[in-house]
Amino acid sequence: MKSTASLDVSRLNDDVKAYLQDEACKLIYLQSCQSTNAECMQASEHGTVVLAERQTAGRGRRGRDWYSPASGNVYCSIGLNKSLPADFLGLISLLAGVSIAQVLEEFSYPDISLKWPNDILCQGKKLGGILIETQALAEDQFFLVIGFGLNINLDAKASDYIDQPAISLSMLGKQQINRQSLLAGLIGRIMSSIIGFEQQGALSLLAEFERFDAFRGRQVNLVTPSQTINATYLGLESNGQIRVRTEQGVQTFAAAEISLRQDTHAAD
Ligand code: BTN
Repeated sequence: MKSTASLDVSRLNDDVKAYLQDEACKLIYLQSCQSTNAECMQASEHGTVVLAERQTAGRGRRGRDWYSPASGNVYCSIGLNKSLPADFLGLISLLAGVSIAQVLEEFSYPDISLKWPNDILCQGKKLGGILIETQALAEDQFFLVIGFGLNINLDAKASDYIDQPAISLSMLGKQQINRQSLLAGLIGRIMSSIIGFEQQGALSLLAEFERFDAFRGRQVNLVTPSQTINATYLGLESNGQIRVRTEQGVQTFAAAEISLRQDTHAAD
């Protein structure tokens, strides 16, 4: 069942604030923009949240486009000032993924999993993605833009533009989707968990990622900027990098993509 109703921004702002103690949150709701990440980066203000009904130049990872029609999906970017060592930036994407997966699970959507570093899957198909963009303000000080897209209603043209198996919440057909309360939960959870990250550290995050991890222990193709390698996906390092076993032994990677190898079964 679909929901394309407009959002009540002032109520959404209040609902999101209920998740945050005294943290700033300023919601900007646009019918259309090029990219909510670009808008948020331009605002460059801690606590800015940009939501759009449609993006004309939605950005995905690795320079890809993110198909963003006005069919009731979620296109959202959250801007936060954050002090953290640059090595730990990769954890932010995992934190956002875990937050989204937890909220979807709480809304009783079944079979939600995560694919490192930042794909949200449902029934093994792509339901959403996260794009983190950063601006360095000083040493170990960043303005972070945490952009996420979630398929709620994919339109009929989606398969022409999306180059992998994709799914939307409306395809699950089980309940009326309340985009307003789903968004309040998603934005509130992502903001509060990233703001609270300094106090809590990464341990519980990594354990939660493991719980949702789609590919742990599986044979994967690992695509790095320079090569494609056959590997067994072992799990995550404490800084969020991926740990794999290859012919060269156990290795870690910060920037890569993984996909399941179709010719193999689960590894032991
Ligand atoms: C991916 O490639 O999986 C990441 C996709 C991220 C898409 C979202 S939609 C909202 C935000 N604005 C953008 O331009 N991209 C992100």
